[in-house]
Amino acid sequence: MKKYDVLIIGAGIAGLYAAMKLPQSKRVLVICKDVPWECNTFYAQGGMVTALDEEDIPLHVKDTIEAGAFHNDKEAVEILSRTSLKTTADIIARGMVFDTDASGNILYTREAAHSAERIIHAGGDATGRYMHYFMMVQNKHELQKNTLVYDLLIENGRCYGVKATVNYQPTTIYADDIIIASGGVGSLYQYNTNSRTVSADIQGICVEKGIELADMEMMQFHPTVFVKTPFARKLLLTEALRGEGAHIVNEAGERFLLDYDSRGELASRDIVSRAIFTYKREHPGEEVYLDFSMFDETFFHHRFPNITKKFFSLGYRFPQDRVPISPAFHYAVGGIKSDTHGVIDGIEGLYVIGEAASTGVHGANRLASNSLLEGVVFATRAVEHLLGKVQPGDKTPDFDKDYGNILHKANDKEYKQKLRQVMWDDIGIIRTRKGLHEAKNLIYDMKNKEIGRLLELRLNTASAIVDAALARKKSLGTHYIEEDV
Ligand code: SIN
Repeated sequence: MKKYDVLIIGAGIAGLYAAMKLPQSKRVLVICKDVPWECNTFYAQGGMVTALDEEDIPLHVKDTIEAGAFHNDKEAVEILSRTSLKTTADIIARGMVFDTDASGNILYTREAAHSAERIIHAGGDATGRYMHYFMMVQNKHELQKNTLVYDLLIENGRCYGVKATVNYQPTTIYADDIIIASGGVGSLYQYNTNSRTVSADIQGICVEKGIELADMEMMQFHPTVFVKTPFARKLLLTEALRGEGAHIVNEAGERFLLDYDSRGELASRDIVSRAIFTYKREHPGEEVYLDFSMFDETFFHHRFPNITKKFFSLGYRFPQDRVPISPAFHYAVGGIKSDTHGVIDGIEGLYVIGEAASTGVHGANRLASNSLLEGVVFATRAVEHLLGKVQPGDKTPDFDKDYGNILHKANDKEYKQKLRQVMWDDIGIIRTRKGLHEAKNLIYDMKNKEIGRLLELRLNTASAIVDAALARKKSLGTHYIEEDV
């Protein structure tokens, strides 16, 4: 029987930083569904928040809580901000290079709803990719790709490991501790900015096992996404563009956002997304654009080199061309309920960190660029907890039930597409109770069809989102019910 001390599900920033924090004396296995760079961390552009110093902590906490519509767990937010001083210093001391000015001073940028410039970045607009590469190089533990988890082995309140396919072959992996760092739910939505590997499987397993999910109605949409590509992952235009001065305009070049919120482009993400969505609905056939024409060309190309190159390949010349935008699903604020050490109440040996977790830190709407920070802070705390406890040393039971041969069924593709559409139409940026009830019925119907295990897991998570949305009676943060207006 193959058994590890620690199994980490996911090789994004949370999973890799947890691995970095685990000593080499531990037998650790990091697994990922595809290649390691197919994760949301890799596609993160804008940067990572860090409190600037002790004095900035209360301000960062205030900004996070205001963006989160005061639904946040205040203790979790304070931990996030305070620990950032330690984790950022640690990452830099280990050799991560963030962007600096000519004298070597770290450059800080601002994004929406921040009251200070406190976001550090790398490669201009490729922070996630640079941090991911850095952590991959730093990782000293075994990493196994093409490993798709389809069950958690839980008995009598303890998790013993997972069932997974490795290169399509069903396998069982046992471990004393399992850390879920598998990300959010992006593939549930028609338009999303997420890696194709982020498909809500583990959240769906948790629903099946009765493990609590929290704040699932809080699904965040990024306001500035180029959706006119055939690929599932739509192209993000980082919030840092607006932080540095880009405008959102209508066909006539007018900054209509100011009619919705006096902060205009720098209002929080939920407000900007809703304003664009509403404007487009009220002006059918019109586009909304991100306008960079105020930037100096040399500055723009240096500050946003990857966006410049990517869009050049699509026929856009920046900063002179404006680009049509739409909001798209971006980040699951809700997730698997845990405390601030990643501990899942009632399940010994199971932790959750990063986007997969719901610690309450983001409230009802995540503040821009708090997610890379969340990954490192809560990975650190989960590992500290794990290393500090005494292992029960119990015998591993046998787990016979296996779904490995029924992961997919013939009509899954068609149902998945239907699900993506209904999530976008009815459980999206602006919801109605009627739409939510229709979505609930449609999800229920699909669950009763001949479907494979992976679709069943997606549908479990979709049900959890729609049920949470129906249960919350008033609009809050990212959860917006039209009838409430
Ligand atoms: C962005 O660069 O706009 C995304 C940052 C984030 O999701 O916080």
